[in-house]
Amino acid sequence: MDKELILQQTRAFVQAELAGAEGGHDWWHTLRVRNMALRLAGEEKADPFVTELGALLHDIADAKFHGGDDEAGPRKAARFLRSLSVEEAVADHVEQIVRHVSFGGGKGVPTFHSSELAVVQDADRLDALGAIGIARTFNYGGHKGRALYDPDILPNLNMSKEAYRTSTGPTLNHFYEKLLLLKDRMHTAGGKRLAQQRHDFMVTFLEAFTREWSGEDQGEKIPE
Ligand code: ADP
Ligand code: NI
Repeated sequence: MDKELILQQTRAFVQAELAGAEGGHDWWHTLRVRNMALRLAGEEKADPFVTELGALLHDIADAKFHGGDDEAGPRKAARFLRSLSVEEAVADHVEQIVRHVSFGGGKGVPTFHSSELAVVQDADRLDALGAIGIARTFNYGGHKGRALYDPDILPNLNMSKEAYRTSTGPTLNHFYEKLLLLKDRMHTAGGKRLAQQRHDFMVTFLEAFTREWSGEDQGEKIPE
């Protein structure tokens, strides 16, 4: 098994498949997740080959762009790897990573564990946080035609998986429904550290957003 050739072919496949994807789930997201996963893999002693394949293929067919079909991604990843004659154990492991990486609403009980899944999942979550996380979130909301914010629609912290997927709430609610919860769901020490920094940056952003929305950033209140 020529690992470097397989990685090259996988990169080319994923890049072509993701052409035209929504800006938050495009090839650049995948590349950032791949880079971060490999960075975390060193500390975690995760296998770099499985880690990179898992990261590259993790959003190959995201359920939210495939009618909610959770198996579309793992199926496509496995089929692709088998077409390259990747060792069965590696293909199986990568298929499991793709199956388990998504947050999906956070209700499911995880049924698979590996250090390679842990680093890919942490890398994917890190890309949902911080400045890039903010940019991706508003891009996704725009893509779905959602309001930036609506003070009359409160965040819903108890959504079912289906409600989470089909929610049409304003984009700002997504921070409270998902993004601010992620820092406590990290697996690796390096991931936790970075998540805290990116989390704090988002909190600063949300405070500024709220101040500006309510007009409290004007120094003095405008006389009535
Ligand atoms: P999932 O939670 O469905 O696994 P992803 O991890 O693929 O979602 O989500 C990646 C990014 O897509 C999120 O971090 C966020 O930026 C954006 N996103 C997903 N769902 C929403 C939503 N309902 N509103 C705004 N952004 C969203
Ligand atoms: Ni992703």
